[in-house]
Amino acid sequence: MTAIYQVLQHSLRILGLLFSLTAINVASAQSIDDVTLDVYKDVNCGCCEGWISHMKEAGFVSKINHPRDLNGVKEELGVLPKWQSCHTAVTENGYIFEGHIPAKIIDEFLAAPPEGALGLAVPGMPIGAPGMEMGDRFTPYDVIQMNKDGTSVVFAHVASAAEQ
Ligand code: CU
Ligand code: CU
Repeated sequence: MTAIYQVLQHSLRILGLLFSLTAINVASAQSIDDVTLDVYKDVNCGCCEGWISHMKEAGFVSKINHPRDLNGVKEELGVLPKWQSCHTAVTENGYIFEGHIPAKIIDEFLAAPPEGALGLAVPGMPIGAPGMEMGDRFTPYDVIQMNKDGTSVVFAHVASAAEQ
């Protein structure tokens, strides 16, 4: 019984390895500078998919996760309720990007991450932000820098759709 279980476990491990190798191949089809994001979202979230497409166009590769307890994931990552939006993305270096942040502002942040920063957030879901398109409608919004000590500062103000 134990032997069968071990064989099974071994084949599962090989299968897992094959899957990750496939994932690496897909990723390397993009440019070397690509950033891989672990995106946590609700399985039924449509605007999340819109943001993931926006990020893909900018060269970000997303691994999509549908956790049973999305709020628990946010809490564990240190995304305070006041910063929260629909999805949470995490880079391999552990920086967190919450909500509908424009890719170019994420690029700007990653080029020189500020000391003590946890990541960036666009709290809520402003109309007209990437993935939140509704015709020509646009609500100006702030991209805030979340700090590990629980404080935050405005990282960028987005006044028009053209600035995204
Ligand atoms: Cu959303
Ligand atoms: Cu989302």
